[in-house]
Amino acid sequence: MGILEVKDVGKRFGGLKALSDVNLSVAENTCHAIIGPNGAGKSTLLNCLVGKLIPDTGSVMFDGQSVLGRSPHEINQMGISRVFQTPEIFSDLSVMENMMIPLFARRDGAYRLHAYHSVLSEAELVTKAEQMLADVNMLDKRNMHTASMSRGDKRRLEMAMCLIQEPKLLLLDEPTAGMARADTNNTIDLLKQIKDSRNITIAIIEHDMHVVFSLADRITVLAQGTPLVEDVPEKIKGHPKVKEAYLGETAHA
Ligand SMILES: Nc1ncnc2c1ncn2[C@@H]1O[C@H](COP(=O)(O)OP(=O)(O)OP(=O)(O)O)[C@@H](O)[C@H]1O
Ligand SMILES: [Mg+2]
Repeated sequence: MGILEVKDVGKRFGGLKALSDVNLSVAENTCHAIIGPNGAGKSTLLNCLVGKLIPDTGSVMFDGQSVLGRSPHEINQMGISRVFQTPEIFSDLSVMENMMIPLFARRDGAYRLHAYHSVLSEAELVTKAEQMLADVNMLDKRNMHTASMSRGDKRRLEMAMCLIQEPKLLLLDEPTAGMARADTNNTIDLLKQIKDSRNITIAIIEHDMHVVFSLADRITVLAQGTPLVEDVPEKIKGHPKVKEAYLGETAHA
């Protein structure tokens, strides 16, 4: 039984079948990549995992509990954090101010740390944020306004904002899209480090096969809303179903 279990999930947008018969099992402390052409349903699937969309059919279990019917905030509190396809950082705030955002949830008039529901002092929160920034090599940019940062740095900041919540499952939607190769390689190194040093399961959507094959323990190929094949990277490389997914037709040997 994986930490994430997706069973028979289907989702329609009007007449369009965005997802159908999606089954996915992600084992704890592994990296599972979901690949597939544009419009395959990858982001829709992620949205169904984090409460942004409600599937029409099927079930989504995380850590033994259903996520269906819960709000994105509740699902976040269960231990799922997500880096979106479009960066969700505040460009008029500094790196450090952005880091503070996920740490706070206002409850009973007090600021509490999401992950622990415990009240930390401001000094403790700042120390925690600084440690996290150091982990992603961004401490020297703590006072920088994010508008002037490279796309790679914005992505690193987003990841730091997710990781500071100490999630059990990190969902990444094209974390290296539009990045220069050097930034992509830095992101790969960072994710490898995260995988090795923390108890975090990663599910990643990615078009860059260098990233996928550098990180993934298992790969699911999604096409037209349905998984075509799921296997270890060595078996996915050169698999005819991958060609089929990207060409939209059966590959002939
Ligand atoms: N809110 C929506 N309303 C209507 N149709 C949608 C909506 N969201 C997605 N779709 C459609 O569902 C299909 C799957 O979209 P989705 O964004 O999940 O694909 P994707 O695999 O993430 O693609 P990409 O690689 O381009 O990010 C597409 O045909 C898309 O146009
Ligand atoms: Mg997408």
